[in-house]
Amino acid sequence: MVTGGASGIGAAICRRLARDGLAVLAADRDEVGAATVARTIEGEGGTAAGTRLDVTRPDEVEAAMALAVERFGSLDVLVACAGRGQQKPMLDITLEEWNAILAVNLTGVFLCGQAAAARMVPKGRGRIVNIASMAGLRGIPGRCAYGASKGGVITLTKVMAAELGPHGVTVNAIAPGPVDTPMTREVHTDATRAAYTAAAPLGRYGSLDELAGAASFLCSDDAAYVTGHVLAVDGGITESGPLFQL
Ligand SMILES: NC(=O)c1ccc[n+]([C@@H]2O[C@H](COP(=O)([O-])OP(=O)(O)OC[C@H]3O[C@@H](n4cnc5c(N)ncnc54)[C@H](O)[C@@H]3O)[C@@H](O)[C@H]2O)c1
Repeated sequence: MVTGGASGIGAAICRRLARDGLAVLAADRDEVGAATVARTIEGEGGTAAGTRLDVTRPDEVEAAMALAVERFGSLDVLVACAGRGQQKPMLDITLEEWNAILAVNLTGVFLCGQAAAARMVPKGRGRIVNIASMAGLRGIPGRCAYGASKGGVITLTKVMAAELGPHGVTVNAIAPGPVDTPMTREVHTDATRAAYTAAAPLGRYGSLDELAGAASFLCSDDAAYVTGHVLAVDGGITESGPLFQL
């Protein structure tokens, strides 16, 4: 199951995991978009279904997990990608706006992770990949609720890895840098774009395929001994200091 599978990074991960041979349930608040991604995968020769899922609603989370098991026999992989962007000064953000971002980006990851793990633990295996953000690792202006939610996802990932490792379930996070998606087209200003490009040793935004490739690795047998890790896929932004010409 890939939450947020209707658009952007989540849709690219759905298509990549299907190419890797997994049966994929694209689950998203955007039911039509999820169904479209599933149809695209089937057209490419893969196995997929789409479903409506609001990750903030425990009843819908349970229903989507049950559907995955019903359609495909088991739930072996969860990629928790559903998220909402926000760029607003900390001094201006309202409690309502704060709560709305935390509900999707952090509580939604917790609810889906808990429900998925409950199905993986009895089988003694499973892969969970939470999509965090570079904004959860660095203090980026305007990323008050968003950055806090993603920092929470990173800590949640480490706790889940510690608790679920003995049951054969790995839990890792990906911290993407800037990627051109519907979310960043809405949230990133020209100034944001210029700053991110200048801060990246690789000097550009990441591609959807590059993000999907990282998720594919963490879901694969090659990552069997990797858990509790935060994989930055960010063109080097998180780990580099000031950039200048030598
Ligand atoms: N694009 C980037 O540069 C970037 C960088 C860092 C992290 N991320 C993270 O990657 C993930 C995907 O982002 P994207 O850029 O592909 O955005 P996107 O807007 O293209 O996709 C996000 C998807 O999440 C879905 N969604 C939103 N709220 C939901 C809810 N309550 N329940 C279920 N689905 C919901 C949306 O319908 C949408 O399909 C997010 O978690 C985002 O925070 C993105």
